Amino acid sequence: MKVLVAGATGAMGKQLLPLLAAQGHDVVGITRSREKLDVVHELGARGIVADVLDPDQVARAVAEAEPEAILHELTALSGDLDIRHFDRTFAVTNRLRTEATDHLLAAGRATGVRRFIAQSFAGWPFARTGGPVKSEDDPLDPEPAGAMRESFDAIRHLEDAVTGADWLAGLVLRYGGFYGPGTGLGPDGDQVEMLRERKFPVVGDGAGVWSFIHIATAAAVTRGRAGIYNIVDDDPAPVAEWLPAAASAVGAPPPRHVPRWLGRIVAGEAAMVMMTEMRGASNEKAKRELGWQPRHASWREGFAQVAA
Ligand SMILES: NC(=O)c1ccc[n+]([C@@H]2O[C@H](COP(=O)([O-])OP(=O)(O)OC[C@H]3O[C@@H](n4cnc5c(N)ncnc54)[C@H](OP(=O)(O)O)[C@@H]3O)[C@@H](O)[C@H]2O)c1
Repeated sequence: MKVLVAGATGAMGKQLLPLLAAQGHDVVGITRSREKLDVVHELGARGIVADVLDPDQVARAVAEAEPEAILHELTALSGDLDIRHFDRTFAVTNRLRTEATDHLLAAGRATGVRRFIAQSFAGWPFARTGGPVKSEDDPLDPEPAGAMRESFDAIRHLEDAVTGADWLAGLVLRYGGFYGPGTGLGPDGDQVEMLRERKFPVVGDGAGVWSFIHIATAAAVTRGRAGIYNIVDDDPAPVAEWLPAAASAVGAPPPRHVPRWLGRIVAGEAAMVMMTEMRGASNEKAKRELGWQPRHASWREGFAQVAA
């Protein structure tokens, strides 16, 4: 199949391109920069230079690639992330989730694309009430935190646009927090560095539940019927449990504990949501309907393997 990957050079793109090429697909990858065309080539794909925020460039790239499937793995999350100003930090990512999704869908419609797979997130967008682990049928947050409102709206836009495109099979993959190569929780990752420097504390009761997924296992999901799928491991866990375990896995000292009031002042509202209120996700639907299994059933063994 001819596949176009938008976000070809990112952490996910670097996993996806060789996998798709090995499966015999004819893969084309988008990058903004000519210099990264070699990277795309080395990953087993042909590169096209385009800025996905420009509809004309997207139309040209899609017309040139003539893909049957488009994979949207676009984010703008490299560099220092200021979680205190969450929406500002996610502003470009939010444009990639809204404008770029619309441009890619419009260009895909014009050229007869049959499948569209887009990246979403399994975590803070879930309703912060009810049980600790959410399925695809559970509601998203009816009252998102003010600091995350624009990012929430962008996620919702992406999910609605992709699942609402009835002229193709649209899949939304709600990935858990990534760990593994090229991610914050990989060798030399930012979050590992923060753990080593004891700058990643447990805040309040640390009851916020996180779901994780090894990035290579997440990349293996490219088949399936239209719909939303949580792509996470079997072991959603509260911060108070996974953060000390992650520190131990990478040989860092135990994380500090910070009271909620102080955490809120220093790290802001979004951090409080993730530290104390966030819900995790169930992968039952993905296992049942996609025949997929995470490589590591739990982040516990996954973190240990990455650290080794
Ligand atoms: N679920 C999760 O936990 C999750 C999800 C996503 C990201 N992250 C984390 O975020 C960090 C950074 O992610 P990353 O390494 O993937 O880098 P990134 O800076 O977020 O870039 C991702 C991709 O988006 C492309 N892109 C961005 N803006 C574009 C535009 N206007 N036009 C065309 N392409 C555009 C980039 O292409 P070019 O630069 O080649 O143009 C790149 O291929 C990693 O630690 C990752 O683990 C985590």
